[in-house]
Amino acid sequence: MTKTATLLDIAAYVGGESKLEGVSRVIKLASNENALGPSPKAMAAYRAVADELHRYPEGGSNDLRAALGKRYGLDPARIVCGAGSDELIGLLVRGYVGEGDDVVYSRHGFLMYPIAAKSVGATPIAAPEKDLTADVDALLKAVTPRTRMVFLANPNNPTGTYMKTDDLKRLHAGLPSSVLLVIDAAYAEFVVRNDYTAGAELVEQHDNVVMMRTFSKIYALAALRLGWAYCPPAVADVLNRIRGPFNVGAAAQAAGVAALHDQASFDAARTHNDIWQPWLAEQLRKLGLTVTPSVANFLLVHFPDAEAANAALVKKGIITRKMAAYGLPQCLRITVGTEEECRAVVDVLAGFLKA
Ligand SMILES: Cc1ncc(COP(=O)(O)O)c(C=O)c1O
Repeated sequence: MTKTATLLDIAAYVGGESKLEGVSRVIKLASNENALGPSPKAMAAYRAVADELHRYPEGGSNDLRAALGKRYGLDPARIVCGAGSDELIGLLVRGYVGEGDDVVYSRHGFLMYPIAAKSVGATPIAAPEKDLTADVDALLKAVTPRTRMVFLANPNNPTGTYMKTDDLKRLHAGLPSSVLLVIDAAYAEFVVRNDYTAGAELVEQHDNVVMMRTFSKIYALAALRLGWAYCPPAVADVLNRIRGPFNVGAAAQAAGVAALHDQASFDAARTHNDIWQPWLAEQLRKLGLTVTPSVANFLLVHFPDAEAANAALVKKGIITRKMAAYGLPQCLRITVGTEEECRAVVDVLAGFLKA
């Protein structure tokens, strides 16, 4: 196959919808965004950049990396920032995976992993899950001498499930040192579990573990495209060599720093999710629906007829995410919205299930 033919084998990632024909007020619960909106401090920092739009951004995201280091107790020299963690997924694959290699991920893992693998002519290998949760033994079984990278979204999107710290350590311990374990902790800040780690300590202890994070979820800056990776020094060096010299815009850097300094907005987002995620799950279960236990800001909800449920929601202006592309056609993924939005979802689904 030619390179173009290989690329045409990729089913392009389709983001969540945001508009509905003929509906003026849309409730968008399709992309796991922060229900409460951005930090006022981040918005002010974003606006302040307007006068300097003719200038290139500082290319190393130095202030942002320093602020991240302080906030999370990490070494800024090991942090690489990107235009969303999506860019970092692509850079990691470009840096470490080539034609004929394998990239392993869990069956219902984030769709950008197989897309990124195919983009460099590699083969994505989906390991089976147990109860919609990544399974260490299955992941390790999928690893062969061709495997260069293992992606683990933890917590996972779209299932909302997570791998416990002990299992994560066992997964790493079972991998050959030639395989890079990429832990994608996009939703880490929402997790309230003692047996969970985002993985920073594994990065510090080993030279084949990377942790990715994002500002798109709890920090509510999805529009600005801002993510970061915590890396072994050699991996940070590779990413810095192959990334664009100005890959993170000035507004994203400024807003990111401001968001890190806004503890009140962070706490409000977390508290909101702590209250309304379990509430939504409980209400949907009371309606007789199966809801996969989630530690993130969204729920995977199982329906007898997900297409019909989606149609009922759309009719009332509520957009959730259909899951056929993930091999879960009987499910919808519903982001935890504001209180009013959560109540609207329950009301519409109660009416739909009664009808
Ligand atoms: C698991 C996971 N990783 C990465 C991303 C991409 O995040 P970003 O907006 O930082 O590119 C998402 C977005 O939904 C996600 O769910």
